[in-house]
This record gives sequence, C-alpha cells and structure tokens, in this order.
Amino acid sequence: MRPTAHSGENRTTRLMAAGTEAIQAAAAVLHAGGLVALPTETVYGLGADATSGEAVARIYEAKARPSFNPLISHVADLAAAQREGLFNADALALARAFWPGPMTLVVPAAPSGTVCALARAGLDSVALRVPAHPVAHQVIAAFGKPVAAPSANRSGRISPTAAAHVMQELEGRCDLVVDGGACAVGLESTIIDCTGDAPALLRPGSVSREDIERVTGKALRAIEPGGAITAPGMLASHYAPNAKVRLDVTTIEPVEAVLDFGGALGAQAMKAAAYLDLSPHKDLRVAAANLFDMLRRLDESGTARIAVAPIPREGIGEAINDRLARAAAPR
Ligand code: TXA
Ligand code: MG
Repeated sequence: MRPTAHSGENRTTRLMAAGTEAIQAAAAVLHAGGLVALPTETVYGLGADATSGEAVARIYEAKARPSFNPLISHVADLAAAQREGLFNADALALARAFWPGPMTLVVPAAPSGTVCALARAGLDSVALRVPAHPVAHQVIAAFGKPVAAPSANRSGRISPTAAAHVMQELEGRCDLVVDGGACAVGLESTIIDCTGDAPALLRPGSVSREDIERVTGKALRAIEPGGAITAPGMLASHYAPNAKVRLDVTTIEPVEAVLDFGGALGAQAMKAAAYLDLSPHKDLRVAAANLFDMLRRLDESGTARIAVAPIPREGIGEAINDRLARAAAPR
C-alpha cells in the first residue's frame, strides 16, 4: 500500500467502487503519503495529505503543474476548518449557509493550522472546503486530517466528472481512484476570498453571486485586474480541449461539432460533425453537470472545432460561461 514510485509516472493505479473497503483503502493511501482520486459533488479531486509537503509535491508532479498554485484543502466540518483558518463574520455566515457543499473559502491561515506551506503555495491564506459528497466526506473523516485536492486532471485539461475521465488523465500517476459515479454539480466550487473587508468572488461556481450577497447582505468586492488577489490557477487558458472552441454561435459551419443549449442550434444539427445538447430543457444546473463530459466527448470525436450555443449568464450560468471562455482562450 505504500506509494512506490516518486516520479509522476509508473504507479499502479487501483480502481475501486465506492464502499467501505474503498474508504479504508483511500485513508490508508493518504496516511502513506500517496495520491487518491475521489469523487466530490463538483468534480473528481486528486487528494493527498495536506499536512505533508512531500505528499502535496506528488500532486503537482502527477498533474504536471508548471507552477505551485495554491490548492484547496478539504476538511470534514466547520470545526475542522476553523482549526486551519481564521473566519470573520462573513466567512462564518457563508460556511453556515453553504457547507457542506460546492463552495471554497479563502481565509487567513490560523496559527494552529496544519496545512503545509506548499499546499498554500507559501501564502498566509488557506483555501478550505467541506465537500458534501458522501465518499469525499467519509474519506476525509476516516483520514482525520485535511486533504489537499485539485481537480484530478493533467494541468490545463478538462476537469474530470467521472472515474473514467480520471483514469484517462492519471492512470499510472496516482495510487487509487474511487469510483463514486458522475459528479452532480459538474463544475469546480465557487471560490470566495474572505481575507478582506468584504468578500470577493475569485471563481464563479454553482453557489452564485446572488446566493453569496443574500447571505452576507453586502455587495461582493470587485477584484482589481492585476491586483494582489487572484486565484492563480484561474488565469489564461484552462479547461482546454484539443479542439478549438467557438462561443455564442448562432450559425454553425460544416466542419464543426456542436454543443447546444435548449435546442437553439438543433435545426442546423444535420450540418454538424457531432451534436450534443447541454440541456434540451434549458436547465442551467443540468447544463453545468453535463459541460465537461460533453466537451470531452465532442473532443474525442476528433473534430477540429467545437461550436457552442449561447448560454444564459444568470445563476450558475456565470460559471458555465467562465469555464467556456477559458476553454476558448488562445493557447
Ligand atoms: O470543486 C473544486 O474546488 C475542486 C474539488 C476537487 O474540490 N477542486 C479544485 O481545486 O478545483 P483546484 O486546485 O483545481 O483549484 C484551486 C483554486 C485555484 O484556482 C487556486 O488558485 C485557488 O483555488 N486558491 C487556492 N488557495 C488560494 C489562496 N490562498 N488564495 C487565492 N486562491 C487560492
Ligand atoms: Mg483544476
């Protein structure tokens, strides 16, 4: 059970169905300093012992991350989160409203905190999340320490929302993949910076701008471009398929594969190289859950370009458009 290879590659990756045995195996791998891919309600995460610099270094190695972006540390509950970070009134209100769930809070690291400097990329803040997914929760509870986990994909690629995606990305690069089925939300967590006077939205997600402002009773602070507060992993091209991506399309071109919404481009589907609809019934939550899987499937069709229908921007639509803009960014 101990991790053998110390380079990114050449590990034997076990795939186990979620269950008591898999939970125990996952906790054992984490104790041994190894890597476990776990289902969460957002996307699959590549987990390691957040308190061990050596274990966290393996995450960067396995993902082939070019730089040491700070990682999210996953904990079992608010009490555990408060041992790691300092919560002001807004952070507390948000935690009580949305945890366990698809929201990450960036707060000042607590003096008592155990998350290692590498997981924080040397910052004096820490990103914390209490996931709602029962498998993630049970593994964290069984392990008993924070679990650092970025999305379980190679750096710069589409986040995995199914165990099969993780195997495509990381087979041979992690010790265990726990298969807990498809992720319900399908987009990475909303990240909120709570280190200042008013919270700031670092990454949109299924907990929307409106949800956050309702709970705190104040407007989200705007992030000054080029300012000190950024979510470093969020810049430039990210979530990238191999195919080029064209957004807000109303007229498709013959070579293109189509990612539709609400059947808007359905009449032109005959011309399309491949055709999938994120949500024929225009349900943004369904669209979010399907987004990464459908991008992956269209990409696998071998198409050179994916044309995407316009997606409304309200609620979780902001996060869907954010991820699509990154998939379409020049690279
Ligand atoms: O849904 C999710 O959040 C998934 C699942 C596995 O929980 N995790 C995930 O982690 O998306 P990752 O590492 O791919 O994204 C972490 C983001 C990065 O953009 C990083 O820059 C930001 O969180 N972040 C982490 N710590 C931070 C900090 N102290 N200050 C600012 N941003 C931080
Ligand atoms: Mg990621």
